[in-house]
Amino acid sequence: MSNASWWERAVKVLPGGVNSPVRAFKSVPGDPLFFKRANGCRFVDEDGKEYIDWCLSWGPMILGHADADVQEAAIEAMGEGASFGAPSRREVMLAEAFLARMPHFEQVRFVSSGTEAVMSALRLARGVTGRDVIVKFVGCYHGHTDSMLVEAGSGLATFGTPSSGGVPAGFTDSTAVLPLDDVPALEAFFAEHGDKVAAVIVEPFPANAGLLVQTPEFIQACRDLTTKHGALLIFDEVITGFRVGRSGAAPVLGVMPDMGTYGKIMGGGFPVGAYAASQEIMDQISPNGPVYQAGTLSGNPVAMAAGLATLNKTGAPGFYEDLERKGAKLQAGLEKAASDNGITATVVRQGSLIWTVFQDEAPRSFEAIDGSKMEIYGRLHRGLIERGVYLAPSGWEVGFVSAAHTDDDIDTTVAAVADTFKSWS
Ligand SMILES: Cc1ncc(COP(=O)(O)O)c(C=O)c1O
Repeated sequence: MSNASWWERAVKVLPGGVNSPVRAFKSVPGDPLFFKRANGCRFVDEDGKEYIDWCLSWGPMILGHADADVQEAAIEAMGEGASFGAPSRREVMLAEAFLARMPHFEQVRFVSSGTEAVMSALRLARGVTGRDVIVKFVGCYHGHTDSMLVEAGSGLATFGTPSSGGVPAGFTDSTAVLPLDDVPALEAFFAEHGDKVAAVIVEPFPANAGLLVQTPEFIQACRDLTTKHGALLIFDEVITGFRVGRSGAAPVLGVMPDMGTYGKIMGGGFPVGAYAASQEIMDQISPNGPVYQAGTLSGNPVAMAAGLATLNKTGAPGFYEDLERKGAKLQAGLEKAASDNGITATVVRQGSLIWTVFQDEAPRSFEAIDGSKMEIYGRLHRGLIERGVYLAPSGWEVGFVSAAHTDDDIDTTVAAVADTFKSWS
């Protein structure tokens, strides 16, 4: 059966034809492709066409698809039973491997998604501090827990209003939404409300509205102000964890948070999330402490095995250096493809996270992105699908380089981008 016929069936039985809205081609032309199978950095769709994949399941597949060691580990675990609902050794092993990489934390709790990790971390932060207010930034995404589906209130309103149907105002009125890259706004907020703030949550390299790399001063201000006012700093590392470096973003930035939230890579393609902090903070979680959090499938042995195999491989000497080199090669190639063809574009990159924006400066805040240029991305996306290259189906999304992408894959991709740009002139 073809992509088109699967799509026809899908829209009848799945809302919008998808199980997560970002998969729908709402901001690019055409209909979604149906992945049939994937290996390394390539996948084949139901029409039998092959693509180089730069979306990689939205980040988890840092080793590429169907990595042999991850598969072997998951299959071995499967053979011993898919879920126990009781302690099992792989939870301890993954926790040890995680904490060996994250010496700024002492304990970790596994959950089943990034959303669940954030939801639990926010509850814990509120429980630990005895305060209600969470500060988040415009353009950062923290999953779909109610209190994070929020936008800045209009006019002089300090606290947020729901950005999604179905979220009561009462669920977001303790969330303050501030601009990124704006230290004075953050200082002013803390000056007025500092004693009520439980936590500031931030993506240390915000990667959900393009890639909005912050100044060191901004991240440092998040650290200094939370410390000064007795609030916690949470780095949401669901994307950046095990991606921007072996220990995530904190050591890259030289700023240590009080808590971290994780997902994606650490599940090796299976549903895993995690949150971590000091022993003192984690002691407040049930069963030791009064803050409740639980999960039937938390610490699932198959997912733990896949995560462990993935972390082991990313620990190989030179792993991140190689990703950095490939990211730089892709960035240089894309920049040249744009300039050779008279296209105004900036390629923003942090290690193996990469984003092309069709304006002449890298934005540092959501407000600095020229949304009208997303139409150009839509045309590029279509041109690349025709040429066998798959990008995330939205210009607001970043691309991911994996260990499985070769120099040849980068050259082929850059040639396809240049050819697409050329076809527009
Ligand atoms: C930074 C960040 N936090 C949280 C989430 C939510 O994770 P999940 O989709 O696993 O629920 C995402 C998802 O992309 C994310 O990028």
